Amino acid sequence: MEIVLCRDVLDAASRCADIVEELLQEKPDAVLGLPTGTTPLPFYEELRSRSLSFARVRSFNLDEYIGLPEGHPGSYTAYMARNFDVNACSVCLPDGRAEDLEKAASAYEALIQEAGGIDLQILGIGRNGHIGFNEPGSSLKSRTRVKTLSEPTLKANASDFEGIEPPTMALTMGIGTILEARRIVLLAAGASKAIAVRDMAEGPLSANCPASALQMHEKPVVFVDPEAASQLANTEYYQRSQALQEKLKNA
Ligand code: GLP
Repeated sequence: MEIVLCRDVLDAASRCADIVEELLQEKPDAVLGLPTGTTPLPFYEELRSRSLSFARVRSFNLDEYIGLPEGHPGSYTAYMARNFDVNACSVCLPDGRAEDLEKAASAYEALIQEAGGIDLQILGIGRNGHIGFNEPGSSLKSRTRVKTLSEPTLKANASDFEGIEPPTMALTMGIGTILEARRIVLLAAGASKAIAVRDMAEGPLSANCPASALQMHEKPVVFVDPEAASQLANTEYYQRSQALQEKLKNA
């Protein structure tokens, strides 16, 4: 796993946008896997500030809440409409309002396959190490399915649902689905993510920290801000490796 120690969350966002930009230069019809949450907001802002064409891009979001009223601002569908140019790009999310959720889950997997698989999956991380809504205990080979949200996740996301009964379940890509992406970039910012980042990168591979499954991916890259990196033990190594990699790139 390549750990990139970033100056701050804006630096992380801009490095992540660089990767998207380079990919779109190589492959204008790339398939993106996209995240939601607070952490990726500066990344979406950065994308909006660059003149990139998403006309031929297809994107698949990681997850969507189940059972929210249509258009609810806390839904990830609404989040994407606010933060990403959904008119310029074909944006897909799991159908959290489907009557038959199992069918919706397999249809989502089929859509990803039909698009040729995900070229670049961008991820955030939950305080408990979840990716998408794959909560601790998730099978490391799981596919898109219904997951019950954990107590810490319900608490962390509660402010998005003031005045209504907050959703307690979600449709999420599985860990197996995520690991099939050809490239993976994870963004982590803030002290509340420090333990999860440590467990993901330096802990054992374990369903208790779903993000540790990235250890099984060929080449995941993690952009962390100083707070999120504060519990890492091997920072000296990451710094040295980063400096050498940059030297190699610019040689
Ligand atoms: C939600 C999303 C995750 C996201 C996580 C962290 O639970 N399902 O994909 O990574 O929140 O969000 P934040 O960046 O707001 O901490």
